[in-house]
Amino acid sequence: MKILIAGANGLLGQAITSVFSRESDFEIIQTSAEEKSYLDYGFPYKTMDITLKDDVKKVVEFYEPDIIINCAAFTNVDKCETERELSWKINVDGVKNLIIAARRVNSKIVHFSSDYIFDGKSGPYSEESVPNPISFYGREKLAAENALITSDIKFTVIRTLVLYGIGNNVKPNFALWMLEELKNNRPVNIVTDQISNVTMIDDLAFGTLKLIEKDCTGIYNIAGADILSRYEFAMKMCEVFKLKKELVLPITTASLNQPAPRPLKSGLIILKMESELGFKPMDSLEGLRLLKVQLGY
Ligand SMILES: NC(=O)c1ccc[n+]([C@@H]2O[C@H](COP(=O)([O-])OP(=O)(O)OC[C@H]3O[C@@H](n4cnc5c(N)ncnc54)[C@H](OP(=O)(O)O)[C@@H]3O)[C@@H](O)[C@H]2O)c1
Repeated sequence: MKILIAGANGLLGQAITSVFSRESDFEIIQTSAEEKSYLDYGFPYKTMDITLKDDVKKVVEFYEPDIIINCAAFTNVDKCETERELSWKINVDGVKNLIIAARRVNSKIVHFSSDYIFDGKSGPYSEESVPNPISFYGREKLAAENALITSDIKFTVIRTLVLYGIGNNVKPNFALWMLEELKNNRPVNIVTDQISNVTMIDDLAFGTLKLIEKDCTGIYNIAGADILSRYEFAMKMCEVFKLKKELVLPITTASLNQPAPRPLKSGLIILKMESELGFKPMDSLEGLRLLKVQLGY
């Protein structure tokens, strides 16, 4: 099986590359917007900006992958609110370019979506819950899902949330940022009113592999096993990494005055994934313990 990864240099793209190289014998092609791969496993690498329709077509037609895994995205939620044209071009038009190219060579697309398609009034959400995005990023993620759902190609949409883990040159995710601050004895303001699962990227990559192996199509939630507030997650981080809990200051989301509204009572129900894949993801404590090992802390 030939797999082409778009956005292979991002946090998830790197996790998919390493988990797939370890756990499968798939032929992997890494692509991302940059000139070089940030993670060298000796797989072929090609520069591919998903907003450039002709380039996407050329690369996909050259490799003729069985599956395109799309990890490419504009992921800064607040910037999506203010840089609407650019973020739409990547998060929605980019996905449409992949669909057009996939159709030409009969590839399936595996694409990642988010709990931000929901309003956060009554989470946790199942695959059947009705979306109602409250941010521009959420609207983009929903538009991309709809582009896949209404296309005539084979697809899997994986909804996930609050990713954490390590990678080369990756943007600091919530866990890594918090760890860096706390370990340098700097206080952090952490919200008590955003409730959701948190997701270790290794689990997300492994779940994605299982979905591909079983040829599952449609919508699947993949996320960590427990649902908790960011503040509770911070407390667990202090326990695992032996950091000072008093440096974690509880605040509310409203006090942050962020450009993009956040779904507060969110979370994803993962029963479908667990029952169909027979796969149990880590809870937050297990995920943090693995992170500690990975960081050699
Ligand atoms: N992170 C989370 O907590 C979270 C939660 C729910 C869903 N998701 C979804 O999971 C997926 C992966 O997220 P992630 O955390 O791995 O994000 P990430 O680390 O920001 O990775 C995204 C990658 O896409 C690249 N990219 C941006 N524009 C591109 C373009 N036009 N063509 C090709 N590549 C492009 C980025 O490059 P640059 O860095 O150079 O821009 C980056 O390497 C996304 O679909 C995201 O929406 C993430």
